Amino acid sequence: MGGFTFAHGLVLIVAASCMLAVSTANKDWKFGFNNHWPPHKGGSHHPKYRQAAPNKVIVGGSEGWRFNFSYTNWAFKHGPFYLNDTLVFKYDPPKDDNTTIPHSVYLLPNLRSFMKCNLTGAEMLANVTQGGGQGFEYVLKNWKPHYFACGQHDGIHCSLGQMKFFVMPMPHMGGFTFARGLALIVTASCMLAVGTAKKIIVGGSEGWKFNVSYTDWALKNGPFYTHDTLVFKYDPPVDNNSIPHNVYLLQNYESFEKCNLKGAKLLADVTEGGGDGFEYVLKKCEPLYFACGLHEGVHCSLGQMKFVVVPLPRPSLV
Ligand SMILES: *[C@@H]1O[C@H](CO)[C@@H](O)[C@H](O)[C@H]1NC(C)=O
Ligand SMILES: *[C@@H]1O[C@H](CO)[C@@H](O)[C@H](O)[C@H]1NC(C)=O
Ligand SMILES: *[C@@H]1O[C@H](CO)[C@@H](O)[C@H](O)[C@H]1NC(C)=O
Ligand SMILES: *[C@@H]1O[C@H](CO)[C@@H](O)[C@H](O)[C@H]1NC(C)=O
Ligand SMILES: *[C@@H]1O[C@H](CO)[C@@H](O)[C@H](O)[C@H]1NC(C)=O
Ligand SMILES: *[C@@H]1O[C@H](CO)[C@@H](O)[C@H](O)[C@H]1NC(C)=O
Ligand SMILES: *[C@@H]1O[C@H](CO)[C@@H](O)[C@H](O)[C@H]1NC(C)=O
Repeated sequence: MGGFTFAHGLVLIVAASCMLAVSTANKDWKFGFNNHWPPHKGGSHHPKYRQAAPNKVIVGGSEGWRFNFSYTNWAFKHGPFYLNDTLVFKYDPPKDDNTTIPHSVYLLPNLRSFMKCNLTGAEMLANVTQGGGQGFEYVLKNWKPHYFACGQHDGIHCSLGQMKFFVMPMPHMGGFTFARGLALIVTASCMLAVGTAKKIIVGGSEGWKFNVSYTDWALKNGPFYTHDTLVFKYDPPVDNNSIPHNVYLLQNYESFEKCNLKGAKLLADVTEGGGDGFEYVLKKCEPLYFACGLHEGVHCSLGQMKFVVVPLPRPSLV
């Protein structure tokens, strides 16, 4: 992605805040930009977000930092995190009798390396021994996305063992609540959204097909805004040589990562990508996980036919 641009940063910020908002237990906190903001004018906010002093949070809670635990889910459930909060990674150092699975903690450079568990350019924060005892402590000092992963075995713990998550620490800003912080961020991104809604052909001249990295495409061609239209173009099956496709909306980040179609919604079948293509209007500021669902997700997992979009709000030009 050739450097982390401001636009990408914003997408992430909004992504992070949307995901946090969507995932909080208090349903009133779920926000779409079609709703009023703030959700409770002058009302009381969830006490969870009235935090002022920095917190120490043990990553994974009582599970600690281990193989086969979804830290993405954990982070969404236990967020938001604030600047100066401390994350504690607890894991057993290697023993002579080989009864432990050693782990480590790395900070990955960007969203792409996070998605691919690619350790190139990653910074080792803690080696295999540093998670013992009271654990390894990491203070969230910067207002930017942090991509954490276990670096053992070239990222296998990250890719197969789900040992990764990202955190976008929120500023405390004195008496400001999470809601205000979020509102500010959203305002900042609103100010950048200009122009009118666009039609964007997914994959450009490649269209929607096997073996194109749509994650790369989305990172290069984003950010996208509400009221933009994504157009999926693919040929309907004509003979036995055709490779048909369709378009699904996957349920959440975890299903996206695993190309798991459980609970996914079929948006367009194998015939609907013909002609002018299938059009999908981006309506809400919520992460959308698109994928081809053919052959139970094989086009998604092996053919890279998947991508995430988090539309930014587009203010109406009054
Ligand atoms: C991880 O989970 C898989 C499937 O549930 C299991 O086969 C494997 O043994 C687990 N690995 C570890 C290290 O717990
Ligand atoms: C975080 O801590 C540093 C020093 O410990 C302090 O200077 C800074 O203001 C704190 N930031 C926030 C957002 O609380
Ligand atoms: C632990 O693993 C190392 C290297 O794989 C091996 O040399 C050693 O004998 C093992 N120790 C035990 C107690 O199994
Ligand atoms: C990992 O990232 C580096 C640098 O961004 C890149 O050159 C390399 O091709 C990537 N490796 C894989 C397997 O994607
Ligand atoms: C891990 O880091 C600590 C502190 O820097 C160091 O003392 C220790 O030797 C390192 N362990 C390994 C296995 O590299
Ligand atoms: C996808 O790419 C692989 C490796 O480059 C190639 O072997 C395969 O034939 C391609 N499949 C399609 C459907 O283009
Ligand atoms: C296409 O495949 C079906 C079943 O696999 C076969 O019956 C049919 O003859 C094939 N058609 C052509 C044009 O090859």
